[in-house]
Amino acid sequence: MTASTGSAAAQPPAPFATRLTRLFGIAHPLLGGGLMWLSRPRYVAALVNAGCMGFLTPRSFDSPDAFGEALVQCRVLTGGRPFGVNLTLASRPGGNDGVVTALEQALAHGVRHFETAGQGPGELIARIHEAGGVVIHKASSLRHALAAERDGADAVALVGMEEGGHPGANELPTMLLGALALDRLRVPVAVGGGIGHGRQLAALLAMGVDGAVCGSRLLVCEEIEAHDAYKRHLVGCDEHATVAVLRTLGNTLCVLRNATAELVAARERAGARDYAAFGDLLDSRITRDRCYGEGDWQRGMASLGPAIAFADRIEPLADIVATLLAQASAALDGLDHVRRTPLGGRP
Ligand SMILES: Cc1cc2nc3c(=O)[nH]c(=O)nc-3n(C[C@H](O)[C@H](O)[C@H](O)COP(=O)(O)O)c2cc1C
Repeated sequence: MTASTGSAAAQPPAPFATRLTRLFGIAHPLLGGGLMWLSRPRYVAALVNAGCMGFLTPRSFDSPDAFGEALVQCRVLTGGRPFGVNLTLASRPGGNDGVVTALEQALAHGVRHFETAGQGPGELIARIHEAGGVVIHKASSLRHALAAERDGADAVALVGMEEGGHPGANELPTMLLGALALDRLRVPVAVGGGIGHGRQLAALLAMGVDGAVCGSRLLVCEEIEAHDAYKRHLVGCDEHATVAVLRTLGNTLCVLRNATAELVAARERAGARDYAAFGDLLDSRITRDRCYGEGDWQRGMASLGPAIAFADRIEPLADIVATLLAQASAALDGLDHVRRTPLGGRP
């Protein structure tokens, strides 16, 4: 791993401008969604310095002080350019006290770009607007996306069943959700879940979507602070390397198919229907310490989606972004070869 976070000079041209790039003041219509344990300053700054938007995840830090240090570090690494904070709302009672504290802390540090996730972001959105910020709410269903729009979200990200992490209870794919969203939402729409190649970005832009949210594809970048052995394992993964578990608890989680995930799936098949039945298998600190920290990829529930199949090497984040943009441009150029007579504006 290197300490590189990219630099403004290294940025490729900005071929695509959308409502999302204007809203977030970014060069490219690419968002790096918040990653539990992994959206740390070097990674978030690398996204920002590559012309995208990244979001620190406050829950990844042991204390408000540690999160405060991360905010300062990120500001330094981006040279003062705006970066974002992810506010993930938990469904369990009392699980969100820290979220409001983190929001206030981020605002006090000058952060004005937010990604919210989970249900009922209304109060967070109101507070962010009061402070002059912008917020994209990430939802896994159109119903929740519409509710967030009504709550005032400036943009919505829809994530389909291909998403690494929590793709929600619905089983609808990214492409379908994105196409439906365009008819139903007025605010800018980003789409995520399974996006790992520029030809998918081209397809989204051709559909009229304003941007893509990526996570899994970016996990192999140098700036992600996970053990090299884990990243080397990821590079070798294909599209069958992940598994969705915990559907029976109404909290589907898409993770790396490893020894822990196999045990969880087996307990689910055997009838486990509450969290206690899984013991410490779901303890995400094990993922942090064993998998990310020591590179023992068989241990812990490591959020991951099938877009990892597109990753073939460990490289700087800026290089991945440049590749995605070049692939998208090439795919759009390729359309000239299949186009015949224009249909005359048929929608
Ligand atoms: C390792 C990992 C951790 C994640 N943690 C969070 C999180 O804490 N909060 C959140 O809103 N989304 C989280 N996500 C979802 C991502 O922000 C993003 O929506 C997702 O990765 C996009 O789908 P993809 O993985 O198919 O690219 C996580 C995803 C991964 C892969």
